[in-house]
Amino acid sequence: MERTFAALKPDAIKRGLMGKILSRFEDKGYKIIAMKLINVSKDLASKHYAEHVGKPFYDSLIEYITSGPVLAMILEGENAILGVRHIVGKTNPDDADVGSIRADFCTVKEYNAVHASDCIESAKREMELWFSPDEICDNYKTMSEIVMGV
Ligand code: CMP
Repeated sequence: MERTFAALKPDAIKRGLMGKILSRFEDKGYKIIAMKLINVSKDLASKHYAEHVGKPFYDSLIEYITSGPVLAMILEGENAILGVRHIVGKTNPDDADVGSIRADFCTVKEYNAVHASDCIESAKREMELWFSPDEICDNYKTMSEIVMGV
């Protein structure tokens, strides 16, 4: 089992897409073990996007991610890091596979609805940055786990 970090960005929240996007993660079978709707501070935004410092789009990226609420979450499941990235799709919606969130709901990479960790190191760093241990609800079983006696 693997854990990964994902966040629905302000464009997804403002367009009322939370339910539709979450249902894709749930339908695939990922277990949501942490979630919160938050107004992202400049401090958190700059830590989260530290790898993009100096890039031409950095300032507008920080402005955008702090422009409205973000729904942050931790998802758990088999190969969750790669699997969630697959469901989310490539950064540019025009390059994303049809059926992915970004292909189906977005038109430009600047407003691409979802962030998802890209590797084990990023997932660990981002989960620890956004959530404290007491915010993680990993003490419940899904109905599948209960029925399977896991
Ligand atoms: P995300 O997965 O959140 O990681 C960095 C974000 O930068 C990316 O999604 C895009 O939304 C955003 N971005 C804006 N402009 C660019 C760009 N020119 N190239 C790559 N990412 C960009």
